[in-house]
Amino acid sequence: MGIQQSFGPEIWTVDGDSLRMFGVLPFTTRMTVIRLRSGGLWVHSPVLPTPERVRAIGELGPVEHLVAPNKIHSLGIKPWKECYPSAKVWASPAFSRRHPEIAIDEVLANGVETVWSDEITHCAVEGHAILDEVVFLHKRSKTLIVTDLIQKHEAASDSWFWRSVKALNGILGRGGGVPRDVKLSIRDKVEFRRSLTAILDWDFENLVLAHGHCLRGGAKKDVSHAFSWITDASSCN
Ligand SMILES: [Fe+2]
Repeated sequence: MGIQQSFGPEIWTVDGDSLRMFGVLPFTTRMTVIRLRSGGLWVHSPVLPTPERVRAIGELGPVEHLVAPNKIHSLGIKPWKECYPSAKVWASPAFSRRHPEIAIDEVLANGVETVWSDEITHCAVEGHAILDEVVFLHKRSKTLIVTDLIQKHEAASDSWFWRSVKALNGILGRGGGVPRDVKLSIRDKVEFRRSLTAILDWDFENLVLAHGHCLRGGAKKDVSHAFSWITDASSCN
């Protein structure tokens, strides 16, 4: 078996390197790969392309689309574009302001027509002051793909200190959810809630995260719980 892990029909994950946020906070990364009906690959939040990863992805098909789902997840876009120069780069609304050095082809705003929209739905979460996250639904596998909006860090190898930091931010282990710092930096609560409610209306059962534990089954209930602090009307008065 290669390093690409099958997650469902025509969807795989590939674990990336362990990184350190702000040079200190340890965390793991994951990219998601979907094979479209064209036979080409749609690659979400690409991790760096080591020779082993390039070989594993090459076994699945040619990369046709590279997706930067928020302005923070830029790491693998340029290196994978060098491997697959004809791949189209899709980026979150604020990506180019933060990374003017990375050429993109399309901004993933809401309402933007994509060539893969009958297979993958997207929603750019609105109303947040910092996070410009675009969330995706792979319809065939009923999988929701989330980058930083929900995090469930696998922290078994972390020190007590870092586990405590992650627990305080609400992102430790299977019970993790929307990070506390994200909850505290909403720009427009109504817009933000509208986006999350739209995502909850999607038909999904599974969850792939860029950081931490994924879910096979039960994802609708889990994500509903993770969003309940703002989607429950009573908490938004
Ligand atoms: Fe992230």
